[in-house]
Amino acid sequence: MAANRTFSIIKPDATRRNLTGAVTKMLEEAGLRVVASKRIHMSREQAEEFYGVHRERPFFNDLVTFMISGPVVVQVLEGENAVQRNRDIMGATNPANADAGTIRKELAESIEANSVHGSDSDENAATEIAFFFKPEEIVG
Ligand code: TYD
Repeated sequence: MAANRTFSIIKPDATRRNLTGAVTKMLEEAGLRVVASKRIHMSREQAEEFYGVHRERPFFNDLVTFMISGPVVVQVLEGENAVQRNRDIMGATNPANADAGTIRKELAESIEANSVHGSDSDENAATEIAFFFKPEEIVG
């Protein structure tokens, strides 16, 4: 499969613990290239829109509050089979269930403070990339 792209967020629990480099190293070692990256502090409105699919879930308000509790690093990652490759290195949503060697197993604190977001389909990757980046900000 040709190289393609996915969208990643290094979440506030990871930036707070100065793990931006550690997360990025694990992504790079998994064969993904960072082709766009910026550190931002999301507004509540931005986080609510980004996680809109979860609006009716019981964890929605806590999740949004967590995601705006500090800076995040939004990234576009490029590589062969990028979406699945990133999901594999991220590990399961709950770090307690994540495989050894994954970002969430090695670095995450809890199911909420789980260090990284990664798109779950090519379609969502395209939507999420466009939500945060202009085309000219992505340099492959
Ligand atoms: P989800 O899309 O199910 O997981 P993933 O991030 O692995 O694609 O959920 C989105 C985020 O919502 C998840 O990363 C952390 C948060 N979350 C909770 O806080 N509690 C929960 O019970 C679930 C399922 C998710």
